[in-house]
Amino acid sequence: MSPTPPPVATTIDGLRARLDAERAAGRTVALVPTMGSLHEGHLALVDRAAALADEVVVSIFVNPLQFGPSEDYDRYPRDLTADLAALSGRGVSVVFAPTVAEMYPSGPIDTRVSAGAVGEILDGASRPGHFDGMLTVVAKLLMIATPDVAVFGEKDAQQVFLVQRMVADLDVPTRIDVVETVRASDGLALSSRNAYLSPEQRAAATVLHRALVAARILHERGEASGDALRGEMRRVLATEPLARTEYVSCADARTLLELERVEGPALLSLAVLFGTVRLIDNEPLG
Ligand code: PAF
Repeated sequence: MSPTPPPVATTIDGLRARLDAERAAGRTVALVPTMGSLHEGHLALVDRAAALADEVVVSIFVNPLQFGPSEDYDRYPRDLTADLAALSGRGVSVVFAPTVAEMYPSGPIDTRVSAGAVGEILDGASRPGHFDGMLTVVAKLLMIATPDVAVFGEKDAQQVFLVQRMVADLDVPTRIDVVETVRASDGLALSSRNAYLSPEQRAAATVLHRALVAARILHERGEASGDALRGEMRRVLATEPLARTEYVSCADARTLLELERVEGPALLSLAVLFGTVRLIDNEPLG
């Protein structure tokens, strides 16, 4: 017999009532914010959440605030039935799946959490407003669920950086936990957007991880120049005709600002287009 899917709360009041009862019974709560289209990467976040708290809430909400006008909001894959099936038997207490009207009853809200200058570099450079929209919905979700811990994936390193900074800056009483990127056997980081790739693009997309690994190996052999490490990533990406490099970065992991030399914790990251499909990946150094 297949396990039953977790219950779904579609309203803020419904979710709060449920979680208030759990908290009154002394139980802790973990939140895994997602936009659905769940894959093994999300399930690793759910498993971590289940290990960290008594109750696991998975939110599934494709947040219009974080998509630009020419981005894939309308075609972003949505399949709640498949997502609930994927979450069955994973120890999820409740799935929070609100409508856009439930989250934004008066339409797009003017109040936004600003990601500041870091929201305008790397992914933010080609996605204006994306990180403000992301932080705004994460702040709302944290205030709705008031979890003890919220779990995010390392693949979205800039998102993790900004969420951690928001929680610190605004004294949000939720701990942020980060789970390592889950990869396909050929190295491609799992992402809901991989579903958009043609078979040829899917094969070519392994170049992201190959470029990161090449730069990491160069660094392990003693290369500390930021330009040399960025150059190595560009060199490997250029070997793949279907890949169009948007950016490569070798940044200070504590600021996300580009480094001249790697002398402390650093983050290699990149964004690459395959046709209109934009993929990102990263590799921490040190
Ligand atoms: O990473 C995502 O899926 C989204 O940015 C998040 C954190 C669920 C906010 O919409």
